[in-house]
Amino acid sequence: MNEIYQKLTTCLESVRAKTDFQPEAALILGSGLGDYADGIQVETVIDYHEIEGFPVSTVLGHKGRFVFGYVEQVPVVIMQGRVHYYEGYPMTDVVLPTRLMGMLGARKLLLTNASGGINFDYKPGDFMLITDHIATAIPNPLIGANIEELGVRFPDMSQIYSKRMGDVVREAAKKLGIGLKEGIYVQLTGPSYESPAEIRMCRGWGGDAVGMSTACEAIAARHMGMEICGISCVTNMAAGMLDKPLSHAEVQETADRVSVQFKALVTEVIQHI
Ligand code: HPA
Repeated sequence: MNEIYQKLTTCLESVRAKTDFQPEAALILGSGLGDYADGIQVETVIDYHEIEGFPVSTVLGHKGRFVFGYVEQVPVVIMQGRVHYYEGYPMTDVVLPTRLMGMLGARKLLLTNASGGINFDYKPGDFMLITDHIATAIPNPLIGANIEELGVRFPDMSQIYSKRMGDVVREAAKKLGIGLKEGIYVQLTGPSYESPAEIRMCRGWGGDAVGMSTACEAIAARHMGMEICGISCVTNMAAGMLDKPLSHAEVQETADRVSVQFKALVTEVIQHI
């Protein structure tokens, strides 16, 4: 058996030994949503440490656990604390939790993150529906022997982010009176923030926001045929756009400032997911 699939199967068995919960949707929490899972009807919590072979996150402020429960009747699995490539894990480990949630039965995936705004029309605190992404600056998570059990060798990526789910997000934002931008998310590796020249490059590529996660997870999920949508919280203007340095503190501050709205948006989306 494929080594990576073997690892996934071990993780799956480890989770299944603890719960038989059947999630319909999977949710990956980005900055500002860290405590989202505390507000749902929780059924079971599984710490990443309890899962055999699972990559464990090191970033401060990120809890590392799966929360199984219900958001207004919808059975969900929530990834509270994601794994980032910049932490040093191979890309296959970075997307392992996403694949695992797919294998647990989740057919839909809501991705959230914090990003730097590249588009001049954006401002910190804006939400952006991710309509497409650019992932060419990171290793593709599907590199290596194809896992036939999950998907095909050359998966189509012409509609990574579901149109139907995009409409659900638009409707949800409208209902809640939350402004919603739409744009292209560029994933870079981090952990350093970008240089102004790199931001100009990303803009030239057609990017609207930049970050260090999400696109790799979307590729792995799409490979498995999951239906995906993504919402980015623009926490800062990208490097070189304002005459001031970037800091993680600013990212955290903005994410915290809009977290109540972000959580409401996520709940509204999941209800109609
Ligand atoms: N660059 C990369 N990742 C980010 C940023 C940024 O400006 N803001 C939040 N995550």
